[in-house]
Amino acid sequence: YFATYKNASQTNIVFDDEQIGLDDQIVIYFSHVVAENTPKGLAAQKFAELVEEKTNGRVKVEVFPNGLLYSDEEEMDALRRGDVQMIAPSISKVTKLVGEWNVLDLPFIFENYDDVEKVFTGNTGKELLSMLEGTGIKGLAFWSNGFKQMMSNRQLLIEPKDFKGMRFRIMPSNVIEKQFRLLGAKPIVVSFNHVYQSLEKREFDGQENTISNIYSKGFYQFQPYITVSNHGYLGYVVLMNEKFWRSLPEDIQKQIAAALKETMLWNLKQSKQQNEQQLMEMKNNRNIQIYELTDKERKEWKEKFAPLYKEYEKKFGSKLLQRIQDDRS
Ligand code: LMR
Repeated sequence: YFATYKNASQTNIVFDDEQIGLDDQIVIYFSHVVAENTPKGLAAQKFAELVEEKTNGRVKVEVFPNGLLYSDEEEMDALRRGDVQMIAPSISKVTKLVGEWNVLDLPFIFENYDDVEKVFTGNTGKELLSMLEGTGIKGLAFWSNGFKQMMSNRQLLIEPKDFKGMRFRIMPSNVIEKQFRLLGAKPIVVSFNHVYQSLEKREFDGQENTISNIYSKGFYQFQPYITVSNHGYLGYVVLMNEKFWRSLPEDIQKQIAAALKETMLWNLKQSKQQNEQQLMEMKNNRNIQIYELTDKERKEWKEKFAPLYKEYEKKFGSKLLQRIQDDRS
């Protein structure tokens, strides 16, 4: 393990629990996979600015967007090795590490952005982060992207039967995989970095993602039938290499935590606005067909997905489900 930091002109290496000296400039590499003009891209940038400001330039955060440094498949290992100090993967991609986090992939777990804010800033948020203890990874905060929509290359997906036999790109997550199996579809895990090329090669027929991801990566060019279903939620957990975190002076840790909190509150509002605005822009594009599910249709989807809740409860109990319910109300 090592973390790099710069002292005047030279780059040093911190081994294990060695502390960073008083005057050393601290450089944090922050790697992520989405475009810069997205909720996560903008939050990372905002966080970098706030930290620099709060520490009078002592901490510098270098943000690498678009999977330039690491793909979503690689970034977790890179973080563990200390090759990057921070990442913010989607919560779904961390469910392999913390099984209970599958709860956030359950369809319709959140009705709206207020629910998300209450849960992320409430008791559930704290409890979820504490579940990372002992993994070598420090969980620092949750950021939001938004609600996921369904899209396809050949037809609008309105009723559960419309999914039958279609191949769907998914993120690696048990709940998401089962969600598509319940619909009679074939889920295929594809790294975010490869979605565009896979679309060009027609390797799958549909996918679920947020408007900001669909818009910023141009996925609608290949899959122009978009159903606004808001069935699932895509959020991020901001992670730091734990040894690096422990090597930081206490005042710096506090300033980083404060910057992250400020960023989270800003991001919760920004993400909602961005998804809404880009949906409007896509509605004005005549090459895209957008359909908004009615309440009746949403109810049908909810009924279809009910077994996922039962299965989750059987595996992990009802504690987190109850906590989310409490935070929401
Ligand atoms: C995806 O893989 O679709 C998303 O997790 C990408 C992201 O980080 O928003």
